Amino acid sequence: MFRKRSYSLVMTGILMGMIVLLMMFGSRLFLDIDEEPRVEEEKRIVVGVSQLGSESGWRTANTESVQNAFTTQNGYFLIFNNARQKQENQLKAIRSFISQRVDYIIFSPVVETGWETVLQEAKEAGIPVILMDRNVDVDDQSLFATCVGSDFVAEGEKAGRWLEKELRKRGYAEERVNIVMLMGTEGSSSQIGRTAGFTSVASEHESWHILDKECADFTSIKGKEVMRDFLRKYQDIDVVVSQNDDMTFGAIEAIRESGRTVGVDGDIVILSFDAVRNALEMVASGDINVDIECNPNQGEYLLRVIDMLEAGEQVERRYYVEEDIFTIENVTQELLQERTY
Ligand code: AHR
Repeated sequence: MFRKRSYSLVMTGILMGMIVLLMMFGSRLFLDIDEEPRVEEEKRIVVGVSQLGSESGWRTANTESVQNAFTTQNGYFLIFNNARQKQENQLKAIRSFISQRVDYIIFSPVVETGWETVLQEAKEAGIPVILMDRNVDVDDQSLFATCVGSDFVAEGEKAGRWLEKELRKRGYAEERVNIVMLMGTEGSSSQIGRTAGFTSVASEHESWHILDKECADFTSIKGKEVMRDFLRKYQDIDVVVSQNDDMTFGAIEAIRESGRTVGVDGDIVILSFDAVRNALEMVASGDINVDIECNPNQGEYLLRVIDMLEAGEQVERRYYVEEDIFTIENVTQELLQERTY
């Protein structure tokens, strides 16, 4: 009896001990599993991104690049806003990022001017601002930390230098050349830079005549409309400089509908910008003569910049993405297959 009792006492003791141990370590275990994501969440860097819109294939690729970079796995919490081409929407988005006390603000300014006040507000809130794709025109350079994007003036110059070479090759270097330009969003860095770069090369050639330049908002529909007007106004267009691929697609439609032909064997030489896959296919088939690349894959660059800022390192004022020029000679099947956008 006594032995039985002491046996059950021992058993009860062991059981109690196990319960206590379970409570101590078991609950710790459950807590850990439960709490781990919360701790991680606290460590995540919160980034507010104001994308200017979704006007082009390039823009879609740029958005994807940002969304693929600022993931939970990479340690980020991304708040993304699409401003649908309106500066007022971007201003609203940036102000909401400030009131949410994000760690960084990234934005692609639809136009260059009109940002001083909101950038000052971000500065006062101690939130670093990183420009993506396009620039802002502000006197106080301390209003943004850095800028990741393209050298638009260089892109415009590349187009000009390509045309120079092409005309020489065809033996037309001294002959009159009539050019029309389809321009992107008025006041945007890409429009300003590409126009400046190309016209500076054009100004070196007396025989180049820029008959007209008109804004077509970087969209295919507007590109077609504006090109139609040009074709009605001018009978003798030799060259179209279209500041992005979407406008080029529209312009080519308008040219074909007017009975004229484009590209390597056509009546009108086509210079385009961006180099999205559909356009590169048209370069390969000879419908577009040259495509000056504008690289939308800026997410990885932005990650690196934030890493540097987090480490307290000094960042440059500008980071330019790598870009190429494409003609029928270098658009290979491999390149087309690799192109994800
Ligand atoms: O700012 C970059 C330009 O904006 C791209 O060339 C164009 O496609 C986009 O809409």
